[in-house]
Amino acid sequence: MKTDTEAFAGGVAVITGAGAGIGSGLARRAGELGMTVVVTDISSERAEAVAAEIKAKGGRAEAMVVDVSKPAELDRLAAEVVDRFGDVRLLVNNAGIETIGYTWEIPADRWEATLNINIHGVVHGVRAFAPYMLEAGKEAWIANLASVGAFSVMPTQTAYIMTKHAVQSFTECLYLEMQLKQAPIHVSSIMPGMLKTSIFEAAAGKGEPEAASAHRKAMFDLMANYGMDLAEGCQRILEQVAEGKFWVSTQPEMTQAAVDGRIQFFRDQSPPFLAGEAKQLLGID
Ligand SMILES: NC(=O)c1ccc[n+]([C@@H]2O[C@H](COP(=O)([O-])OP(=O)(O)OC[C@H]3O[C@@H](n4cnc5c(N)ncnc54)[C@H](O)[C@@H]3O)[C@@H](O)[C@H]2O)c1
Repeated sequence: MKTDTEAFAGGVAVITGAGAGIGSGLARRAGELGMTVVVTDISSERAEAVAAEIKAKGGRAEAMVVDVSKPAELDRLAAEVVDRFGDVRLLVNNAGIETIGYTWEIPADRWEATLNINIHGVVHGVRAFAPYMLEAGKEAWIANLASVGAFSVMPTQTAYIMTKHAVQSFTECLYLEMQLKQAPIHVSSIMPGMLKTSIFEAAAGKGEPEAASAHRKAMFDLMANYGMDLAEGCQRILEQVAEGKFWVSTQPEMTQAAVDGRIQFFRDQSPPFLAGEAKQLLGID
């Protein structure tokens, strides 16, 4: 078991969606620890800004534009990174978007974007990079962004929640596949409770139905008031990833509460139910 300063004192880190939020926090922390950080994002401006920040602090970073919803862009990224920087030690499939609204009111293209970015972005990140990492045969780490939402349900956050359930089961199977291969590759599922990021602002005006704006505002306020500081959360994440933990939580009590609720649901085989806080959030009660 390694500490973050042992595991990530050098080597190459590739992080998707690293131009803002959790991806940017992880990129900054990986840069501080001594890694060469490939800061990828769909926005070149944001990726460049984060890479510049890392370099200004004496770190090594390169910005690259990658849209994770396009598998060919992830193939190109993997080939280019290995060619230019060498073996990848840490891959974080982080890029993700929120989508709020009744299932039948979300436009088809927003559904497609949510599934393509949140699910296929992770799948094809692994598909593109894993062969190089296996071929290198060195100790390496793959971490995918799930959520405490992987263990709960929430009406009108259906599109987002189902993608996180999918990432969680994908990551569990990937862990077992690496075991089957006896590969020296650690696999982690990252389940942030709530970190202060721009995810709810980013969702605004992107095909989200107007009726969803009150729910989004409630989530935005919750994050602003109770979200964990980004730098602290990202430090916690990389410490646990370095240790090779599969379950990586920023707020373990939130993960536990979500898991307990899920276990109760399975054990009782009850109809789906909403916890008190979720009702408040939705303005029910
Ligand atoms: N913030 C939280 O509390 C929280 C909780 C649980 C899970 N997560 C997960 O963490 C991840 C990051 O979320 P965040 O809160 O930092 O979001 P954010 O909106 O602050 O940042 C997301 C970044 O991803 C980029 N991005 C969007 N679409 C992309 C695409 N197609 N290709 C490449 N990059 C793209 C954006 O440009 C942005 O820089 C997501 O997977 C999210 O589901 C976040």
